[in-house]
Amino acid sequence: EKGTYPHFMLKEIDEQPFVTRKIIKEYQNENNELKLDNDIREAMKAADRIYIIACGTSYHAGLVGKEFIEKLANIAAEVHVASEFSYNMPLLSEKPLFVFISQSGETADSRSVLVKIKEMGYPALTITNVPGSTLSREADYTLNLYAGPEIAVASTKAYTAQIAVLVILAVDTAQAKGLKLDFDPMQELAIVANAMEILTDQKEAMEELVTNYLQAARNAFFIGRSADYHVCMEGALKLKEISYIQAEGFAGGELKHGTIALIEEGTPVIALATQADVNYAIRGNVQEVIARGANAMIISMKGMEQDTDAFVLPHVHELLTPLVSVVPLQLLAYYAALHRGCDIDKPRNLAKSVTVE
Ligand code: M6R
Repeated sequence: EKGTYPHFMLKEIDEQPFVTRKIIKEYQNENNELKLDNDIREAMKAADRIYIIACGTSYHAGLVGKEFIEKLANIAAEVHVASEFSYNMPLLSEKPLFVFISQSGETADSRSVLVKIKEMGYPALTITNVPGSTLSREADYTLNLYAGPEIAVASTKAYTAQIAVLVILAVDTAQAKGLKLDFDPMQELAIVANAMEILTDQKEAMEELVTNYLQAARNAFFIGRSADYHVCMEGALKLKEISYIQAEGFAGGELKHGTIALIEEGTPVIALATQADVNYAIRGNVQEVIARGANAMIISMKGMEQDTDAFVLPHVHELLTPLVSVVPLQLLAYYAALHRGCDIDKPRNLAKSVTVE
Protein backbone atom coordinates (compact mmCIF):
# COMPACT_ATOMS: atom_id res chain seq x y z
CA GLU A 1 0.00 0.00 0.00
CA LYS A 2 1.21 3.50 -0.62
CA GLY A 3 -0.06 4.89 2.69
CA THR A 4 0.29 8.66 2.81
CA TYR A 5 2.33 8.78 -0.40
CA PRO A 6 0.70 10.21 -3.52
CA HIS A 7 2.53 7.68 -5.70
CA PHE A 8 4.25 4.32 -5.30
CA MET A 9 7.28 5.73 -7.10
CA LEU A 10 7.89 8.33 -4.41
CA LYS A 11 7.41 5.75 -1.67
CA GLU A 12 9.85 3.39 -3.37
CA ILE A 13 12.45 6.16 -3.79
CA ASP A 14 12.15 6.82 -0.06
CA GLU A 15 12.56 3.14 0.78
CA GLN A 16 16.07 3.00 -0.65
CA PRO A 17 17.98 3.69 2.60
CA PHE A 18 15.95 0.99 4.33
CA VAL A 19 16.48 -1.52 1.50
CA THR A 20 20.22 -0.87 1.48
CA ARG A 21 20.37 -1.54 5.24
CA LYS A 22 18.27 -4.66 4.81
CA ILE A 23 20.68 -5.98 2.17
CA ILE A 24 23.65 -5.31 4.47
CA LYS A 25 21.90 -7.31 7.20
CA GLU A 26 20.69 -10.17 5.01
CA TYR A 27 24.08 -10.81 3.46
CA GLN A 28 26.11 -10.85 6.69
CA ASN A 29 26.27 -13.35 9.56
CA GLU A 30 26.54 -12.45 13.25
CA ASN A 31 30.33 -12.04 12.90
CA ASN A 32 29.83 -9.48 10.14
CA GLU A 33 31.15 -11.91 7.52
CA LEU A 34 29.50 -12.18 4.11
CA LYS A 35 27.33 -15.27 3.89
CA LEU A 36 26.85 -16.08 0.23
CA ASP A 37 26.06 -19.60 -0.84
CA ASN A 38 29.26 -21.60 -1.24
CA ASP A 39 28.10 -22.80 -4.67
CA ILE A 40 27.86 -19.20 -5.90
CA ARG A 41 31.34 -18.47 -4.58
CA GLU A 42 32.74 -21.52 -6.39
CA ALA A 43 30.91 -20.65 -9.63
CA MET A 44 32.32 -17.12 -9.55
CA LYS A 45 35.83 -18.40 -8.83
CA ALA A 46 35.63 -20.95 -11.64
CA ALA A 47 34.52 -18.43 -14.27
CA ASP A 48 37.02 -16.87 -16.67
CA ARG A 49 34.46 -14.25 -17.75
CA ILE A 50 31.13 -13.00 -16.43
CA TYR A 51 28.35 -12.26 -18.91
CA ILE A 52 25.75 -9.95 -17.40
CA ILE A 53 22.39 -10.07 -19.21
CA ALA A 54 19.49 -7.71 -18.50
CA CYS A 55 17.06 -5.13 -19.91
CA GLY A 56 16.22 -1.49 -19.16
CA THR A 57 17.07 -0.30 -15.70
CA SER A 58 18.48 -3.72 -14.75
CA TYR A 59 20.88 -3.40 -17.69
CA HIS A 60 22.00 -0.05 -16.31
CA ALA A 61 22.63 -1.68 -12.92
CA GLY A 62 24.64 -4.31 -14.80
CA LEU A 63 26.90 -1.63 -16.29
CA VAL A 64 27.78 -0.54 -12.75
CA GLY A 65 28.14 -4.16 -11.59
CA LYS A 66 30.64 -4.94 -14.35
CA GLU A 67 33.00 -2.36 -12.83
CA PHE A 68 32.76 -4.01 -9.40
CA ILE A 69 33.43 -7.48 -10.79
CA GLU A 70 36.44 -6.28 -12.76
CA LYS A 71 37.89 -3.87 -10.20
CA LEU A 72 37.21 -5.82 -6.99
CA ALA A 73 37.12 -9.47 -8.06
CA ASN A 74 39.54 -9.15 -10.98
CA ILE A 75 37.36 -11.14 -13.40
CA ALA A 76 36.61 -9.82 -16.90
CA ALA A 77 32.95 -8.96 -17.30
CA GLU A 78 30.67 -7.91 -20.16
CA VAL A 79 27.16 -6.49 -20.03
CA HIS A 80 24.59 -7.18 -22.73
CA VAL A 81 21.06 -6.09 -23.49
CA ALA A 82 19.16 -9.41 -23.47
CA SER A 83 17.20 -8.83 -26.68
CA GLU A 84 20.44 -8.23 -28.60
CA PHE A 85 22.44 -11.04 -27.04
CA SER A 86 19.69 -13.51 -27.79
CA TYR A 87 19.97 -13.16 -31.56
CA ASN A 88 23.53 -11.93 -31.96
CA MET A 89 25.65 -13.87 -29.50
CA PRO A 90 29.30 -12.85 -29.24
CA LEU A 91 32.11 -15.38 -29.12
CA LEU A 92 32.09 -16.79 -25.61
CA SER A 93 35.05 -17.50 -23.35
CA GLU A 94 35.91 -21.03 -22.26
CA LYS A 95 34.32 -20.90 -18.82
CA PRO A 96 31.59 -18.28 -18.79
CA LEU A 97 29.22 -17.62 -15.93
CA PHE A 98 25.98 -15.87 -16.86
CA VAL A 99 24.51 -13.38 -14.41
CA PHE A 100 20.90 -12.38 -15.10
CA ILE A 101 19.64 -9.22 -13.43
CA SER A 102 15.87 -8.85 -13.29
CA GLN A 103 13.63 -7.17 -10.75
CA SER A 104 10.60 -9.24 -11.75
CA GLY A 105 12.41 -12.39 -12.80
CA GLU A 106 9.85 -12.69 -15.61
CA THR A 107 11.33 -10.62 -18.44
CA ALA A 108 10.92 -12.61 -21.66
CA ASP A 109 13.99 -11.19 -23.42
CA SER A 110 16.22 -12.27 -20.53
CA ARG A 111 14.55 -15.66 -20.27
CA SER A 112 15.17 -16.32 -23.95
CA VAL A 113 18.92 -15.93 -23.32
CA LEU A 114 18.73 -18.10 -20.21
CA VAL A 115 17.05 -20.93 -22.16
CA LYS A 116 19.71 -20.72 -24.89
CA ILE A 117 22.73 -20.70 -22.59
CA LYS A 118 21.32 -23.55 -20.48
CA GLU A 119 20.98 -25.58 -23.68
CA MET A 120 24.64 -24.83 -24.31
CA GLY A 121 25.40 -26.17 -20.81
CA TYR A 122 26.59 -22.96 -19.13
CA PRO A 123 25.95 -22.03 -15.49
CA ALA A 124 23.63 -19.14 -14.57
CA LEU A 125 23.03 -16.95 -11.55
CA THR A 126 19.90 -14.77 -11.30
CA ILE A 127 19.79 -11.61 -9.20
CA THR A 128 16.10 -10.87 -8.66
CA ASN A 129 13.55 -9.33 -6.37
CA VAL A 130 11.29 -12.36 -6.80
CA PRO A 131 12.87 -15.65 -5.71
CA GLY A 132 10.70 -18.39 -7.24
CA SER A 133 10.22 -16.35 -10.43
CA THR A 134 10.91 -17.99 -13.79
CA LEU A 135 14.45 -16.61 -14.11
CA SER A 136 15.22 -17.69 -10.57
CA ARG A 137 13.83 -21.22 -10.98
CA GLU A 138 15.54 -21.86 -14.28
CA ALA A 139 18.99 -20.61 -13.22
CA ASP A 140 21.42 -22.62 -11.09
CA TYR A 141 21.73 -19.98 -8.38
CA THR A 142 19.73 -17.00 -7.10
CA LEU A 143 20.60 -13.88 -5.13
CA ASN A 144 17.66 -12.04 -3.61
CA LEU A 145 17.34 -8.24 -3.75
CA TYR A 146 15.23 -7.96 -0.58
CA ALA A 147 13.74 -4.72 -1.93
CA GLY A 148 10.11 -5.63 -1.20
CA PRO A 149 7.45 -5.37 -3.92
CA GLU A 150 8.13 -2.67 -6.50
CA ILE A 151 4.80 -1.44 -7.85
CA ALA A 152 5.63 1.69 -9.89
CA VAL A 153 6.50 0.86 -13.49
CA ALA A 154 9.60 3.07 -13.18
CA SER A 155 12.17 1.01 -11.32
CA THR A 156 13.96 2.82 -8.49
CA LYS A 157 14.66 0.80 -5.36
CA ALA A 158 15.32 -2.32 -7.43
CA TYR A 159 18.13 -0.48 -9.27
CA THR A 160 19.95 0.50 -6.10
CA ALA A 161 19.30 -2.94 -4.57
CA GLN A 162 20.79 -4.58 -7.67
CA ILE A 163 23.90 -2.44 -7.40
CA ALA A 164 24.26 -3.18 -3.66
CA VAL A 165 23.95 -6.93 -4.26
CA LEU A 166 26.44 -6.74 -7.13
CA VAL A 167 28.98 -5.07 -4.81
CA ILE A 168 28.46 -7.84 -2.29
CA LEU A 169 28.88 -10.50 -4.98
CA ALA A 170 32.11 -8.88 -6.20
CA VAL A 171 33.47 -8.45 -2.66
CA ASP A 172 32.62 -12.03 -1.74
CA THR A 173 34.42 -13.28 -4.84
CA ALA A 174 37.42 -11.08 -4.07
CA GLN A 175 37.59 -12.52 -0.55
CA ALA A 176 37.23 -16.08 -1.85
CA LYS A 177 40.14 -15.43 -4.21
CA GLY A 178 42.21 -14.02 -1.35
CA LEU A 179 42.34 -10.53 -2.85
CA LYS A 180 42.82 -7.68 -0.38
CA LEU A 181 40.48 -4.67 -0.48
CA ASP A 182 41.68 -1.33 0.84
CA PHE A 183 38.26 -0.38 2.26
CA ASP A 184 35.50 -1.95 4.33
CA PRO A 185 32.71 -2.44 1.77
CA MET A 186 29.91 -3.11 4.24
CA GLN A 187 30.78 -0.04 6.27
CA GLU A 188 30.86 1.99 3.05
CA LEU A 189 27.42 0.63 2.12
CA ALA A 190 26.11 1.76 5.51
CA ILE A 191 27.46 5.25 4.75
CA VAL A 192 25.63 5.07 1.40
CA ALA A 193 22.34 4.29 3.19
CA ASN A 194 22.79 7.40 5.36
CA ALA A 195 23.62 9.51 2.29
CA MET A 196 20.45 8.25 0.55
CA GLU A 197 18.46 9.34 3.57
CA ILE A 198 19.97 12.85 3.42
CA LEU A 199 18.95 13.01 -0.26
CA THR A 200 15.38 11.77 0.18
CA ASP A 201 15.01 14.52 2.80
CA GLN A 202 15.87 17.14 0.17
CA LYS A 203 12.90 16.78 -2.13
CA GLU A 204 12.13 20.50 -2.17
CA ALA A 205 15.55 21.25 -3.62
CA MET A 206 14.92 18.70 -6.37
CA GLU A 207 11.52 20.14 -7.17
CA GLU A 208 13.12 23.57 -7.46
CA LEU A 209 15.71 22.22 -9.92
CA VAL A 210 12.85 20.89 -12.04
CA THR A 211 11.27 24.35 -12.03
CA ASN A 212 14.57 25.95 -13.03
CA TYR A 213 15.75 23.46 -15.61
CA LEU A 214 13.02 21.13 -16.88
CA GLN A 215 9.75 23.01 -16.65
CA ALA A 216 9.27 23.79 -20.33
CA ALA A 217 11.82 21.32 -21.69
CA ARG A 218 11.13 19.32 -24.83
CA ASN A 219 14.35 17.41 -24.46
CA ALA A 220 17.18 17.00 -21.95
CA PHE A 221 20.69 15.61 -21.90
CA PHE A 222 22.46 13.85 -19.05
CA ILE A 223 26.23 13.80 -19.28
CA GLY A 224 28.86 12.08 -17.19
CA ARG A 225 32.10 10.17 -17.46
CA SER A 226 33.00 6.66 -16.23
CA ALA A 227 30.61 5.58 -13.43
CA ASP A 228 28.63 8.81 -13.85
CA TYR A 229 27.95 7.95 -17.48
CA HIS A 230 26.13 4.76 -16.49
CA VAL A 231 24.00 6.68 -13.99
CA CYS A 232 23.24 9.29 -16.68
CA MET A 233 21.79 6.54 -18.87
CA GLU A 234 19.52 5.54 -15.99
CA GLY A 235 18.58 9.16 -15.22
CA ALA A 236 17.58 9.68 -18.86
CA LEU A 237 15.50 6.49 -18.94
CA LYS A 238 13.67 7.55 -15.77
CA LEU A 239 12.92 11.00 -17.17
CA LYS A 240 11.64 9.84 -20.56
CA GLU A 241 9.67 6.93 -19.14
CA ILE A 242 7.48 8.94 -16.79
CA SER A 243 7.60 12.59 -17.97
CA TYR A 244 7.80 11.89 -21.74
CA ILE A 245 10.57 14.47 -22.10
CA GLN A 246 12.93 13.13 -24.74
CA ALA A 247 16.18 12.46 -22.87
CA GLU A 248 19.53 10.82 -23.51
CA GLY A 249 22.48 9.90 -21.32
CA PHE A 250 25.85 10.56 -22.94
CA ALA A 251 29.49 10.05 -22.16
CA GLY A 252 30.83 13.60 -21.66
CA GLY A 253 33.66 13.09 -24.13
CA GLU A 254 31.36 11.77 -26.85
CA LEU A 255 29.22 14.92 -27.09
CA LYS A 256 31.57 16.68 -29.48
CA HIS A 257 31.34 13.72 -31.85
CA GLY A 258 27.80 14.62 -32.88
CA THR A 259 25.28 15.17 -30.13
CA ILE A 260 26.47 18.67 -29.32
CA ALA A 261 24.75 19.73 -32.56
CA LEU A 262 21.44 19.36 -30.70
CA ILE A 263 22.32 21.92 -28.04
CA GLU A 264 20.53 25.21 -28.55
CA GLU A 265 19.50 28.18 -26.43
CA GLY A 266 18.00 26.86 -23.19
CA THR A 267 18.52 23.10 -23.77
CA PRO A 268 18.71 21.46 -20.33
CA VAL A 269 21.94 19.57 -19.64
CA ILE A 270 22.38 17.74 -16.35
CA ALA A 271 25.95 16.75 -15.58
CA LEU A 272 27.17 14.39 -12.86
CA ALA A 273 30.59 15.03 -11.34
CA THR A 274 31.39 12.41 -8.69
CA GLN A 275 34.58 10.86 -10.08
CA ALA A 276 37.83 12.60 -9.13
CA ASP A 277 39.88 11.55 -12.14
CA VAL A 278 37.35 12.95 -14.63
CA ASN A 279 36.12 15.92 -12.60
CA TYR A 280 38.15 18.38 -14.65
CA ALA A 281 37.15 16.79 -17.95
CA ILE A 282 33.39 16.72 -17.30
CA ARG A 283 33.48 20.35 -16.18
CA GLY A 284 35.15 21.16 -19.49
CA ASN A 285 32.27 19.42 -21.31
CA VAL A 286 29.77 21.50 -19.34
CA GLN A 287 31.58 24.68 -20.43
CA GLU A 288 31.33 23.50 -24.05
CA VAL A 289 27.53 23.14 -23.86
CA ILE A 290 27.10 26.40 -21.94
CA ALA A 291 29.02 28.14 -24.72
CA ARG A 292 26.32 26.86 -27.12
CA GLY A 293 23.49 28.21 -24.95
CA ALA A 294 22.64 25.17 -22.79
CA ASN A 295 20.88 25.61 -19.46
CA ALA A 296 23.36 23.34 -17.67
CA MET A 297 23.55 22.19 -14.07
CA ILE A 298 26.19 20.16 -12.27
CA ILE A 299 25.40 17.65 -9.55
CA SER A 300 28.73 16.99 -7.85
CA MET A 301 29.97 15.14 -4.79
CA LYS A 302 31.24 16.68 -1.57
CA GLY A 303 34.99 17.08 -1.85
CA MET A 304 35.02 18.01 -5.53
CA GLU A 305 32.25 20.59 -5.63
CA GLN A 306 32.48 24.16 -6.94
CA ASP A 307 30.42 27.18 -5.89
CA THR A 308 28.34 27.18 -9.05
CA ASP A 309 27.18 23.55 -8.72
CA ALA A 310 23.40 23.18 -8.55
CA PHE A 311 23.50 20.37 -6.01
CA VAL A 312 26.17 18.63 -3.92
CA LEU A 313 25.82 14.97 -2.91
CA PRO A 314 27.09 13.73 0.46
CA HIS A 315 30.49 12.05 0.15
CA VAL A 316 30.56 8.27 -0.31
CA HIS A 317 33.23 5.82 -1.50
CA GLU A 318 33.99 6.57 -5.14
CA LEU A 319 33.03 3.08 -6.39
CA LEU A 320 29.61 3.34 -4.75
CA THR A 321 28.58 6.79 -6.04
CA PRO A 322 25.94 5.38 -8.46
CA LEU A 323 23.88 4.35 -5.42
CA VAL A 324 23.56 7.97 -4.34
CA SER A 325 23.87 10.00 -7.55
CA VAL A 326 20.85 8.20 -9.01
CA VAL A 327 18.56 9.41 -6.19
CA PRO A 328 18.37 13.08 -7.30
CA LEU A 329 17.88 11.92 -10.89
CA GLN A 330 14.94 9.72 -9.81
CA LEU A 331 13.47 12.71 -7.97
CA LEU A 332 14.02 15.03 -10.95
CA ALA A 333 12.08 12.59 -13.14
CA TYR A 334 9.37 12.31 -10.51
CA TYR A 335 8.80 16.06 -10.15
CA ALA A 336 9.08 16.69 -13.90
CA ALA A 337 6.32 14.13 -14.44
CA LEU A 338 4.28 15.53 -11.54
CA HIS A 339 4.46 19.08 -12.92
CA ARG A 340 3.24 17.81 -16.29
CA GLY A 341 0.34 15.92 -14.77
CA CYS A 342 1.57 12.53 -16.04
CA ASP A 343 0.37 9.18 -14.76
CA ILE A 344 3.53 8.56 -12.73
CA ASP A 345 3.03 4.99 -11.53
CA LYS A 346 1.58 3.75 -14.81
CA PRO A 347 3.18 5.62 -17.73
CA ARG A 348 1.60 5.18 -21.14
CA ASN A 349 2.55 2.22 -23.34
CA LEU A 350 4.47 0.45 -20.53
CA ALA A 351 3.94 -2.61 -18.36
CA LYS A 352 5.73 -3.39 -15.10
CA SER A 353 7.06 -6.64 -16.39
CA VAL A 354 7.63 -7.25 -20.06
CA THR A 355 6.69 -10.87 -20.69
CA VAL A 356 6.79 -10.80 -24.48
CA GLU A 357 9.93 -10.75 -26.62
O1 M6R B 1 11.95 -6.97 -14.25
P1 M6R B 1 13.20 -6.56 -14.99
O2 M6R B 1 14.24 -5.96 -14.11
O3 M6R B 1 13.75 -7.70 -15.83
O4 M6R B 1 12.71 -5.46 -16.00
C1 M6R B 1 13.59 -4.90 -16.94
C2 M6R B 1 13.03 -3.64 -17.57
O5 M6R B 1 11.82 -3.92 -18.25
C3 M6R B 1 12.77 -2.54 -16.53
O6 M6R B 1 13.90 -2.25 -15.80
C4 M6R B 1 12.26 -1.26 -17.21
O7 M6R B 1 13.27 -0.71 -18.00
C5 M6R B 1 11.76 -0.26 -16.16
N1 M6R B 1 10.43 0.16 -16.47
C6 M6R B 1 12.64 0.96 -16.03
O8 M6R B 1 12.17 1.82 -15.07
